Amino acid sequence: MKLGVCYYPEHWPEAQWPDDAKRMRALGISVVRVGEFAWSRLEPSRDQFNFDWLHRALDVLHAEGLEVVLGTPTATPPKWLIDEEPSILAIDEQGKARGFGSRRHYCFSSVAYRRECDRIVKKVLVEFGEHPAISTWQTDNEYGCHSTIVSYSADALAAFKRWCRARYKTIDNLNALWGNVFWSMEYTSFDQIPLPMLAVTELNPAHRLAFWRFSSDQVASFNRLQVELIREHSPGRDVMHNYMGNFTEFDHYTTGADLEIAAWDNYPLGFLDRDGINEDDLKKWYRTGHPDSSAFHHDLYRGIGRLWVIEQQPGPVNWAPHNPAPLSGMVRLWALEAMAHGAELMSWFRWRQLPAAQEQMHTGLLLPDGTEDEAAQEVRGLCADLQALEAAGVNTAVDAKAPVAMVFDYAGDQMLRIQPQGINYGPLEWVQEVYTAIRRCGVDVDIISPQAALEGYRLVVLSNSVSVEPGLQSELKAYSGHVLIGPRCGSKTEEYSIPDNLPPGALQSVLPIKVSRVESLPDFVKVPASNGYTAVRWREKVAGNLKANAHFDDGWGFHYCSDNIHYLNACLESDSLLRFIEERLRGAEIDTMRCGEGLRIRRAGRFVFVFNYGPQTEQLDSECDFVLGGAELPPAEVAVWRL
Ligand code: GAL
Repeated sequence: MKLGVCYYPEHWPEAQWPDDAKRMRALGISVVRVGEFAWSRLEPSRDQFNFDWLHRALDVLHAEGLEVVLGTPTATPPKWLIDEEPSILAIDEQGKARGFGSRRHYCFSSVAYRRECDRIVKKVLVEFGEHPAISTWQTDNEYGCHSTIVSYSADALAAFKRWCRARYKTIDNLNALWGNVFWSMEYTSFDQIPLPMLAVTELNPAHRLAFWRFSSDQVASFNRLQVELIREHSPGRDVMHNYMGNFTEFDHYTTGADLEIAAWDNYPLGFLDRDGINEDDLKKWYRTGHPDSSAFHHDLYRGIGRLWVIEQQPGPVNWAPHNPAPLSGMVRLWALEAMAHGAELMSWFRWRQLPAAQEQMHTGLLLPDGTEDEAAQEVRGLCADLQALEAAGVNTAVDAKAPVAMVFDYAGDQMLRIQPQGINYGPLEWVQEVYTAIRRCGVDVDIISPQAALEGYRLVVLSNSVSVEPGLQSELKAYSGHVLIGPRCGSKTEEYSIPDNLPPGALQSVLPIKVSRVESLPDFVKVPASNGYTAVRWREKVAGNLKANAHFDDGWGFHYCSDNIHYLNACLESDSLLRFIEERLRGAEIDTMRCGEGLRIRRAGRFVFVFNYGPQTEQLDSECDFVLGGAELPPAEVAVWRL
């Protein structure tokens, strides 16, 4: 795994660049990302290009032997451009233009903006496409950050109508698939279709799902425009985009299919607090991040491309409700954990904290005055670790399958958000709870797309496959391993209605059951089943000839299985879920090793990595052949042993 940093030469006097580059090198950094917000410096006014400073910056980095990732500057269209072409601005759900003064203020469908992106990206590529420092391109920056996937602009409306026409062919077909006879929502032509906004009450879920699919496709096609230019003008370089954490507002598989590298931006403490974790968990993990948060995303994005962490939290950030400092040691732990999950690069955001503007309170590796901040010390220690691991022959390139595959379905996640049918049903939270249960059994996981092959896995888990695509259906039919299907899987058609044969719809071809009733429950309700498990939040009543393995007090069955295929017809409390998953893993003959709440393990070939997110020192087997750390594992520590 290489080490990297995000660097903004345009923030600092040029005289400082050579020293910065030297210090990066001395710290063990070999990759530097630059340029992704620099449009106003590259083109201060229309067609007045100023590329010299960036040439000089790249030369300085190159002279120091640093490899450069250059970002296209399209996340920040400058003021002169917005004044010239106001149609670039995204329009919010109330029909108002989003303003200039931060970033990502553009609409993915804007015809003018696509033209302007083509122009600036081509210019940058002609200028820098062959620069020897550049190994990789980053397209734009964090698609969707600050709620920017959807836009209700005139261009979006026109493009959505075209998209609907291409997908549904005839308006009658669209009306039928969406169920528009309900509430007289029928259209007589594609021209009549509005964007789903400003309605009096709930919009048709099928309309919203179509708009989500459309918006997701707009991201992919926007990205593809840049990728095609990069392929043409900078051949031989890799292309990546930096995805985010806990973010499902577009289908990452579609965008990722055009890229070599799936990079992501990891802020473990920021995500924990921002994304509404409960008070108890916040107390436990506010200085470490949740023990499965980073790992989950590594496993997810590794299924989309070669895994990079291009932005990693170095200290307190500025954007969460609270912004605590990481527990000393976590910067190193997060890096080694990324490596164990197959990351090729760990890069911190950012080199030096800028004392001005929005992110002035966001730390970096250096303080604003250039002295080292605490993370820099940890990076130095990490370099020694990486050398030790290399000397021991540790290779973390992931070339083998994990025993378990979890299918992750972006459209399924969206379907559950559109009609949650229960305020406490968090689609991503549920997927992550299942992931946690597997990881607490000490088992590695691959997260795979609904199109991926299942062969080679011992256990396949479906937890948000709301509509089961024909490809997945036939994979499941041919697959001979164990399968665990969670609640709500197969509960909708692709166009968001209840399947003719009732849920689990297409999954009935592998599991002869029929869900006849579902209920969502407030948090205070706990429903015990006769075999000791406790259901919470969501329960399903199952009809058909298959016998339930247990029953709830009111007679509803719990847990159905047919051969190796199990159906979990409820959400479970975390201890129950852990035991239930452990049984499924054992049933599939997967070795388990129960981990305490804060301990996680991950295998890499002949080596095992152990991470302590918990508050106390853990005792490991002293007989292990340690290549890093030892049998005593204090909080925020890592050990690696040879099997
Ligand atoms: C990311 C973004 C960076 C920076 C960082 C701060 O979302 O890509 O540009 O803003 O957050 O944590």
